[in-house]
Amino acid sequence: MKLTGKIAVITGGNSGIGFGIAQQMAAEGARGIIIGRNRKTLKDASKSLAGAFLPVQCDVTQIDSLETMFNNVKEQFGGIDVLVVNAGGGIGPGTVQPFAEVDEQSYDAMTDLNLKSTFFTVQKALPHLKDGASVILVSSIAAHKAFPGMSVYSAAKAGVRTLARTLSAELMGRGIRVNVLSPGTIDTPVFDKMGFTDTEVTNMKSGFKDIIPMRRTGTPAEMGGVAVFLASKDSSFVVGEEIVADGGVVNL
Ligand SMILES: NC(=O)c1ccc[n+]([C@@H]2O[C@H](COP(=O)([O-])OP(=O)(O)OC[C@H]3O[C@@H](n4cnc5c(N)ncnc54)[C@H](OP(=O)(O)O)[C@@H]3O)[C@@H](O)[C@H]2O)c1
Repeated sequence: MKLTGKIAVITGGNSGIGFGIAQQMAAEGARGIIIGRNRKTLKDASKSLAGAFLPVQCDVTQIDSLETMFNNVKEQFGGIDVLVVNAGGGIGPGTVQPFAEVDEQSYDAMTDLNLKSTFFTVQKALPHLKDGASVILVSSIAAHKAFPGMSVYSAAKAGVRTLARTLSAELMGRGIRVNVLSPGTIDTPVFDKMGFTDTEVTNMKSGFKDIIPMRRTGTPAEMGGVAVFLASKDSSFVVGEEIVADGGVVNL
């Protein structure tokens, strides 16, 4: 097992990719906490992880709450070995909008969730990260390829990718590695949270699938496999790097 005895904190570990990461990390011997806002899905996820990851309710866009939450984690578990900053994605209606129609409110909500919360999650976790810890930021192929209607999301995710370089350089002295996992289209509940009708969601998913050279969407378990690699000693010489796991969309 690659993560025996490791303490991991996974934001958004109660759904989709984050839950897939929690499952793979638990299978490799890690334990720790999963963070989200929805009490029920947190509880259900923790139960199906056989309690390896305890559920903690926290809105990652609330900086004060992040600070309190990490102080509690430190008290309960001691230092953190692995931090997965995965919470993010859609903000409901306003997630997909033509550039000319984006208003300040949806711009702020999108960047608060997908960039600002990433920045402050790492900052507030920092005093509690062990030397040699692995930090994994979840970005997206939207940082590499144009998806019309997703200007703010894409810019925020590009910011996340870039953040990993600077943070890696700044945290090098403590042996903390910061890397990025950039998924392509992964079948998760995110598509049902964008404020579209069922038909629009189906069309959107099939539009995304059509451009995937592997002719299928990815799975949360596959993202979990990449995250385990980045969290474990197997990636000990990998720092400030990004793994694009997208079935070939960006490179083929
Ligand atoms: N699915 C894809 O195709 C895809 C592709 C590229 C990148 N990504 C990225 O992968 C990450 C996970 O997405 P997903 O597809 O797994 O979506 P998902 O199933 O909707 O999961 C999103 C997770 O983030 C949590 N979350 C959202 N807002 C939060 C907040 N303010 N505070 C705390 N937790 C919050 C949600 O929990 P609560 O609802 O309980 O708050 C949920 O656990 C996101 O960063 C997304 O941008 C996804």
